[in-house]
Parts: sequence; C-alpha cells; structure tokens
Amino acid sequence: MKYQENPPNAAALMTSARSFGNYDLPGAVADLIDNSIKAAARKVSITCLFNGGAPTLSIVDDGYGMSAAELVAAMRPASTNPSAERAPDDLGRFGWGMKSASFSQCRRLTVISRQKGGLSAATWDLDDIDSWRMVVYDEQEAFALSRGLPAKGDGTEILWEKCDRLSENATLGEEAFNSLVAYTRSRLELIFHKFLSGLDGAKKLTISVNGLPLEAYDPFYRSHPATQPLEKEDLPLNGSIIRISPFVLPHYSKLKLSEHDRLGGEEGFLRNQGFYLYRNHRLIIHGTWFRLAKFGELSQLVHISVDIPNSLDDVWKITVDKSDAQLPAALRKRLTQIIEKLRSQAARVYRNKGARLDRPGTVPVWSRTVRHNEIRYSVNREHPLIASILEDDESGRISAALKLVEQAFPVGTFAQDASADISRIHQTEADPRRLLELAETVAGATLAEVGDMKEVGRRMKDQEPFASSWTLIEDHFRNKGWKLV
Ligand SMILES: Nc1ncnc2c1ncn2[C@@H]1O[C@H](COP(=O)(O)OP(=O)(O)O)[C@@H](O)[C@H]1O
Ligand SMILES: [Mg+2]
Repeated sequence: MKYQENPPNAAALMTSARSFGNYDLPGAVADLIDNSIKAAARKVSITCLFNGGAPTLSIVDDGYGMSAAELVAAMRPASTNPSAERAPDDLGRFGWGMKSASFSQCRRLTVISRQKGGLSAATWDLDDIDSWRMVVYDEQEAFALSRGLPAKGDGTEILWEKCDRLSENATLGEEAFNSLVAYTRSRLELIFHKFLSGLDGAKKLTISVNGLPLEAYDPFYRSHPATQPLEKEDLPLNGSIIRISPFVLPHYSKLKLSEHDRLGGEEGFLRNQGFYLYRNHRLIIHGTWFRLAKFGELSQLVHISVDIPNSLDDVWKITVDKSDAQLPAALRKRLTQIIEKLRSQAARVYRNKGARLDRPGTVPVWSRTVRHNEIRYSVNREHPLIASILEDDESGRISAALKLVEQAFPVGTFAQDASADISRIHQTEADPRRLLELAETVAGATLAEVGDMKEVGRRMKDQEPFASSWTLIEDHFRNKGWKLV
C-alpha cells in the first residue's frame, strides 16, 4: 500500500464552487459585507456598473485590511476550518464566503488590500487557473490597481469582473441590470438594518451603493407608535443565549398604504410574517414559521426577532451562503407556545377593527339591542350606505333580504367557534386594498348623492368600517387628488 496524492482538478472544483450555496446578488454582496464588518470597517462603498453589458462590481471598505501573507491565505479556498472557534463578532463561517460568493456571480476575482501602508493584490481567474495558479501583484502593480481604495489608511477592495451571472451572458439589458441593483440595495437595507442604524448594540456602519447611502429598513417598524413590542425572552441553548423579541405590527388602519406596502416587502405582508433570524445582528432568514405554525391572515402582523450568536452555527445548521438555517429541536416547544400567545394577540388587533359597536361618534354597521333580557343583533338601518339603498327599495326586496341575513345569522355555529378559539374568527379584511376599493365605491355613490367631496369625507369619516381605518383611507383619497377637507 502506498499513498498517492489525488487533488481535485482546479478548474472543475472552482467551477463547482460557483454553485455552493444558493447565492443571489444581494446574498453574495452581503457575504462580502460580512467580511468588511469582521475587519472592523465603518464604511463600505459598493459600485455596480453595467459597462455596456460587461458589468463589474467593486466593494471597498475601510477595515483593517490584510498583509500580503494574509491575503494569500484569504484567497485560498476553504481558508478556515468551519469547526474552529470564531471570535464572537465574526460573521464568517466556512472559510469559503469570499470565494464562493464572488464566483457565484463572476469568473474573475481581484482583491486589493492596504494594511499599515503596505499594498497587496491578487486575482483568481476561472479561465486561467490551471493547477491552482493565482495572480499575485508586486507593490507597484498593486499600487496601479489601488485607485478604488481610500487614499490613506487601511482598507480592502474586492473587484468582480467577467460577471457572467450578472449579465446572464450578456442577455441582460441595462434596465434589468438597474432593477437588479435597486433590488440588491433594498435587500441590503433589510439584511444589515441593525448595522445601518446601530440598533441593539450593532456597531454603526455606512453602506452606499453607487454613491447613494443605504437607509436602515426595520421589518418590525419599531419607530411606529402603533407597533406593540412584547416581552423579550432569553432561551439558553448549549451554553449560549437566544433572544426572542416578539412584535405585533400596526394594523393597516394605522398606516398609510405606502407604509403598509413597504413593511410588507416585495412578497407582501402575508409572506413576511413569522421569525426573523439574526446572527450577530445580521439578518439570515425572514418570514418563516419553521413549520411551527401556518401562514395565515390573522398572524400576518406577528413578527418575531430571534437573535443567535455565531457559537450556535452548528446547532442551527447555518448554510454556506447564510441564507438558511434549521430550528434546533430543543426550542420547538417554547417557540410554539410563544406563537400561540401572539396569534391571539394579533387576532385581537383585527377584531377591534371595523367590528366595534361602541365607538362613540361613529355609526356602526351592526346594532346590538337588549330588551327583556334578550339580545338581538341587527343591521343598522341608519348606517348611511344601508339607508341609501333602502330609500330606493320600492319593492321591499332589499329590506326583506336584510331581514333574511339577520335571521339566518348562524348563532349556534358562531358561538361554538367563538368559545373554542375566538382568535380564529376573521371577519374583517386583511388586505387594505380591498377596504380601499369598498371605500372608493361608497365615496362614488355618496358623491352622486351629495355632490360635494367635502361632504363625502365628513360622512365617511364617521361610518364604519371606514371610521376605524381613516388614516389609511384619507391618505389614499388624497393621493388620488380627492380633496376631502
Ligand atoms: N474585507 C476584508 N478585510 C479584511 N480581511 C478580509 C476581508 N475579506 C476577507 N478577509 C479575510 O479573508 C478570510 C476569508 O474570508 P471568507 O472567504 O469570506 O471566509 P470566512 O469569512 O468564513 O473566514 C477572512 O477570514 C479574512 O481574514
Ligand atoms: Mg466571510
């Protein structure tokens, strides 16, 4: 028996590294920003250029940089062992990030770094890798390449060229490229929002894309007065602490449509409910229930922040691209309990909307009367919309239909459902757009009747279900150019 060396084919291995993880552009850039954060950078500038179909991307930071020897080590694939202990603020994981993130988007990676005045630079080019040969530049060459770096001080630039994935082999037009950049920008505003605003002790970081600074985007809308932060809880796991911070977000009635849409993100409110997992303040995954609960309209206002340290990477099975994790079994039970409590709280937020009968100064849709100790629910004939249709009810059919609806109200089933779990009953609209459509219809009909938009506003402001969502409706009408006041 003897030992025989059997190394991988360099080009083939590096090409397969292109599909390690499942990076999209924001995910790949985020992995490079993680390295900048670890290098204590305070400022990261990203430049993403279309270049007539040969796009390039550069990320410059003012972190502590690398020495020539460190740069060579950093360029090496699998540069650190994933099971080696990491500094608590380290956002890295497998020693692959810079390489696999870069090659997921480009074929040529150049790193230029200045540390204590010394410049070093190196390039991996997938088309010129032979048996693991890397280009290393001497000081003078490195200096020529260093124009992207700040004139003084330490820092690093990562440069992507031959961005075949970004140009989709030159089939991607400039417009599509620009929208990809815009998408990346908004993703980064979410992923790094704690760093951008210095929240929860994250060290403040400025990030800009093509010269424009990113603005923190807080998926919990902590700054809105109607956001309800609930009690935090620290769960111990394998000698580390996991912090659970639940929030019930404001109901749409308290928001403008633009705020509601921004908060919902691209996939909408419904998809964005659930857990937001942060590792060392950096958002890893969001909008998942880890299969502990189902996505539902009533729970869409529930967002739960989960903060984990990097010491628990193994337990959470953080993936190479830091885009996925698995819930440790030890946490399932407690988290399920937390979700249950929150869901009923969120359901209460909905129940209080539009369905209340007792808001002074507003006209409800339903009335509740008590006579001889008997309770009766009926449709309020004085509600302006109901009243207006009854005016034209010569045949009496509308009135008959209303009575029918009232008498057929399924009291028994309702009572059963309500006593089993009232938080499952969902009568009001979960989508503000549907309420706005209804409001437009009613406004149109009212206008035909009263002939004056101000009067329409005055009437609708006091009638349910519009009264409880007036912030939303007024803003929507104003955007349409309808002057209500
Ligand atoms: N912007 C940077 N500034 C300083 N050092 C860096 C930078 N980017 C990468 N490095 C160095 O390169 C190493 C390898 O990075 P990477 O491939 O992302 O793996 P990991 O982050 O898992 O260690 C890092 O551990 C770090 O030492
Ligand atoms: Mg890294």
